[in-house]
Amino acid sequence: MSFRFSVPNSMLTLGLSIAILSAPALAQDTLAPPPEIAELVDTCKACHGDNGVPVQEDAPIIWGQEQYYMYVQMRDIKAGRRKSEIMGPIVQDLDKDTMKALAEYFSQLKWPSLGYSTPEADIPVAEAAAVAGQCPQCHLGAWVGNSRVPRLAGQNVQYLEKTMLDLKYDRRKNAPDVGALFKDMSDEDVRSLARYAAGK
Ligand code: HEC
Ligand code: HEC
Repeated sequence: MSFRFSVPNSMLTLGLSIAILSAPALAQDTLAPPPEIAELVDTCKACHGDNGVPVQEDAPIIWGQEQYYMYVQMRDIKAGRRKSEIMGPIVQDLDKDTMKALAEYFSQLKWPSLGYSTPEADIPVAEAAAVAGQCPQCHLGAWVGNSRVPRLAGQNVQYLEKTMLDLKYDRRKNAPDVGALFKDMSDEDVRSLARYAAGK
């Protein structure tokens, strides 16, 4: 495994702890949405949850997800590069500015804990697959995401399994490079990786 991205530890030892430790304070438990998207935000909660915990079983956490990543997903779902019968109709009539405002709003909220823990048996399988697929190289050491790279740590396990298999089998076509990483893995290994990320 590569530790090239274990930035936070080395920065802490460099005495930059204040900057690092204060970063999570930016995430909000509650935050009033701008009036122009307030009604829409209420509709999102029907599946993505009132407090960030998804209420629909295969809906992802969007509270605290990366802003640019979320905008790109809404844009791609609208354009059909990523097919979702559920999200498709929701973004169909949204313009770019509205999608950007939604992404900005949800990115500022605090990522919730779903309290999931990875089954022991998955850990060696997933760690080997993560090295082979170089996941931490892009998703950062802690799998927390950055800009266009989504956070995976603590994501809804059912969603992760579904979207990773969608990527593997090109049902989700907006990230072919990521999908290619799963092509040589068995479905069971992909599921192990999903359970590993969900428990991080
Ligand atoms: C009827 C349920 C439902 C509603 C309402 C809904 N979503 Fe979703 N959303 C989903 C599901 C399910 C997915 C996963 C789709 C897939 O499997 O590809 C998703 C995916 C997403 C994603 C992609 C996240 C990722 O990690 O790739 C974003 C962003 C998103 N929704 C934002 C919103 C916003 C903003 C609203 C309100 C305007 C909203 N959703 C309303 C069910 C819903
Ligand atoms: C070269 C950089 C890179 C590598 C290596 C990489 N990813 Fe990603 N990953 C991305 C980017 C960028 C996206 C966003 C794609 C998009 O815009 O749809 C992504 C998206 C994902 C998603 C979708 C998340 C969501 O919310 O829908 C999952 C799951 C994922 N990656 C898992 C992995 C795993 C597991 C590995 C290792 C086997 C891996 N990735 C390796 C860059 C990478």
